[in-house]
Amino acid sequence: MTGAILIDHPLIKHKLTLLRKKETPPAHFRIILKEISFLLAFEVTKGLELENIDIETPVSRTSAPQLSGRNMCIFSILRAGEGLAQGMLELIPSARVGHVGLYRDEDDLHAVEYYFKAPSDLADRFNLVVDPMLATGGSAITALNKIKKEGAKNITFLCLLAAPEGIKALNDAHPDVQIYTASIDERLNEKSYIVPGLGDAGDRIFGTV
Ligand code: PRP
Ligand code: URA
Repeated sequence: MTGAILIDHPLIKHKLTLLRKKETPPAHFRIILKEISFLLAFEVTKGLELENIDIETPVSRTSAPQLSGRNMCIFSILRAGEGLAQGMLELIPSARVGHVGLYRDEDDLHAVEYYFKAPSDLADRFNLVVDPMLATGGSAITALNKIKKEGAKNITFLCLLAAPEGIKALNDAHPDVQIYTASIDERLNEKSYIVPGLGDAGDRIFGTV
């Protein structure tokens, strides 16, 4: 699974432009991010398992598909992952949720882990790990190391913006994990921010600048 799958849609592109604009305030940023998460969910959940149940329509009895939603775990990489995870959870309310608390050390950029909580039966689940930003890849790699250590096998990673450097690093470290992204940006700058990017995703969501 090399590279990344680009989720390419005019609605997503339009909304991404709104997120990139520096004047978009946190309140709008959160609303637009949730709207994008609905659109991204459509693509990344294509492979979700269905089970048939017997139902009665006003006309006849039939067998109809429903999601085996308990088989999914949405992992949010804190803080910014919350912006995507909440939308996903609204669409798939029966999914379980895991949290990985990480931040990038400002000096050497390594990911510092401060929290982890997840369901115990990850091996049986489709684990969707979400974080808006894939920059150096350090945070995603650290999160996936931990999630795999806890037993997860079937894992997909979803972000909003990815730098080519982050895609390569994540592919090298976790070749079995499919990456989905709404944009592959140009590069990282000297501070390892994505260019053109949207700035610090956590700060944009929570207004902490
Ligand atoms: C951001 C983002 C990713 C990480 C990406 O989190 O949400 O987790 O940076 O960068 P990387 O690919 O170089 O590791 P940040 O460290 O700013 O923490 P926050 O969400 O708590 O603000
Ligand atoms: N983390 C962010 O939030 N933004 C970037 O551009 C890089 C890492």
